[in-house]
Amino acid sequence: MQIAIDGPAGAGKSTIAKKLAAVYGMTYLDTGAMYRCIAHCVLNQGDNFDNTDDIIRLAKEAEISFDGDRVFCNNKEVTKEIRTPLVSRHTSDVARIKEVRELLVIQQRKFAKDHSVVMDGRDIGSVVLPEADFKFFLDADVLERARRRKKELDERGIVKNLENLKNEIQQRDDNDRNRTEGPLVKVKDAIVIDTTGKSIKEVCDIMRSYIDGVKA
Ligand code: CDP
Ligand code: CDP
Repeated sequence: MQIAIDGPAGAGKSTIAKKLAAVYGMTYLDTGAMYRCIAHCVLNQGDNFDNTDDIIRLAKEAEISFDGDRVFCNNKEVTKEIRTPLVSRHTSDVARIKEVRELLVIQQRKFAKDHSVVMDGRDIGSVVLPEADFKFFLDADVLERARRRKKELDERGIVKNLENLKNEIQQRDDNDRNRTEGPLVKVKDAIVIDTTGKSIKEVCDIMRSYIDGVKA
């Protein structure tokens, strides 16, 4: 079985994807972490996001793997490093490059061949798994999404102003929506869920009702 979950930043995709994977005994693949790894490699090499050839080379060389919630890139654990605001800001800079997307999409599709998968990202229902059994598009009001992100960062001791976070999220969503390759898009056959004001459990229950066939 394949479940595709797309949507903007902070909509609850990864939290809910992990829960669904646990409920249905499936494997979760966080495709955002893969793009984040490439941005992290670029930052490690001196922060040049204008040199597309160099970014493509780094993407070709990058060996990305997962162990539960842990993420590894080129044999180094990068679980925490790829979640910093700096990496978040720069990930859409690498994600707009056609060759980078092609490389990662091949790996994501291969993963889906070998596993029963819940995958989240921006282009899963549209590009990576167009034949997925279920496609969901999660959304939420941008202020609520910024509040959720702030709470997460606060818990990690990273101080960020709510207004700045909201602006950064909006900027990232715009970049993701407006790029030519694999943009963030609501496909026609996606089930759209507005998660504003809904708990994680409520959203999970709605999705399960579709998957279990309660809702047609
Ligand atoms: O967790 P959050 O929604 O903030 O971000 P993420 O899912 O980790 O994705 C980080 C960035 O990677 C996004 O803003 C996109 O630019 C890019 N991305 C993408 O282009 N395609 C995907 N399938 C997943 C992520
Ligand atoms: O993957 P994505 O960026 O879409 O969102 P996430 O990382 O799963 O969720 C961002 C934060 O919002 C997490 O701390 C979740 O616990 C929280 N969340 C929430 O409070 N209520 C929801 N309905 C969904 C997520």
